[in-house]
Amino acid sequence: LIDTETIFPQERMTIDEEQQGLEDQITIVFSHVVAENTPKGLAAQKFAELVSKKTDGRVRVEVYPNGILYSDHEELEALKRGEIQMIAPSYTNMTELVPEWKVLDLPFLFRDYDHAKAVFTRETGKELLHFLDNENMKALAFWSNGFKQMTSSVHPLLEPADFKNLTFRVMSGDVLKKQFQLLGAKPVTASFTDVYSSLERHQFDGQENTISNIYSKGLYKFQPYLTLSNHGYLGYSVIINNKFWNRIPADIQLQIIDAMLETTIWNMDESKTMNESQLEEMKRQTGISIYDFPIEAKSRWMEKFQPLYKEVEGQVTNSIITKILNTGK
Ligand code: LMR
Repeated sequence: LIDTETIFPQERMTIDEEQQGLEDQITIVFSHVVAENTPKGLAAQKFAELVSKKTDGRVRVEVYPNGILYSDHEELEALKRGEIQMIAPSYTNMTELVPEWKVLDLPFLFRDYDHAKAVFTRETGKELLHFLDNENMKALAFWSNGFKQMTSSVHPLLEPADFKNLTFRVMSGDVLKKQFQLLGAKPVTASFTDVYSSLERHQFDGQENTISNIYSKGLYKFQPYLTLSNHGYLGYSVIINNKFWNRIPADIQLQIIDAMLETTIWNMDESKTMNESQLEEMKRQTGISIYDFPIEAKSRWMEKFQPLYKEVEGQVTNSIITKILNTGK
């Protein structure tokens, strides 16, 4: 386990410091679990550069990738305790705390990358972000990784029947569990930091993830069948410790928000490009078999997912699903 006192001695503030605000040099420790060469990894680095530039070096963002500080199942508590200041978990991993974000996990909700970008960066996204706000945490933006694809070690996954009795790794989120149950499969929650070794030990028959994560973490080595299903969307909520945020002077907060806006727009376009180019690299460099999603099967998948839409519609109070579907039309 990491000894955070040794790594972040500066985080031990006295009561006086907490009341007065932060000292001249402000350090934001940003922890995440994916590789550096991914949409989230690159966005975190870009954000760090922009913050440094816009604040004239007054604020430094230190990025720790690959779960080297905390796994995805630990980072939220570490943020709340103030051991780190920023994280960008998948919104899926936050749905226990923010049930409204479950809508974002509905299968086949997003039409394409432009749709996701419009939802995340316009009014609906802002409305969704506010559902998190509490005394410990503040959501600054949604970032994108991209569309998720289905992979398996057993056979190609093209029709709902192909899922029957297979075990799938899922992130912690009710909608994803239910999605696989409705397909007749058995979902098991596992931390992203454990996925590689679990697949290596054949603990799961399949999983869903973006090309970027499948490629950068080498998951294709144990999952020789990949379907370009684009059935779900992996996005992130970028979250800062709220007590820390409130101690930052207002002018600097504005500069940080400015850096976040610029990073977010960049990330939305970059995530699409990265997933596309890494798909080509994966085709060239690995032996994975890649299947196009059979368009004629979509209605059969959607039929399976109807109860999930009904369930989530009943759980969110306003017409957020309709708003999402109408965004960018
Ligand atoms: C996963 O658990 O598969 C993803 O949420 C990992 C990530 O942060 O992209």
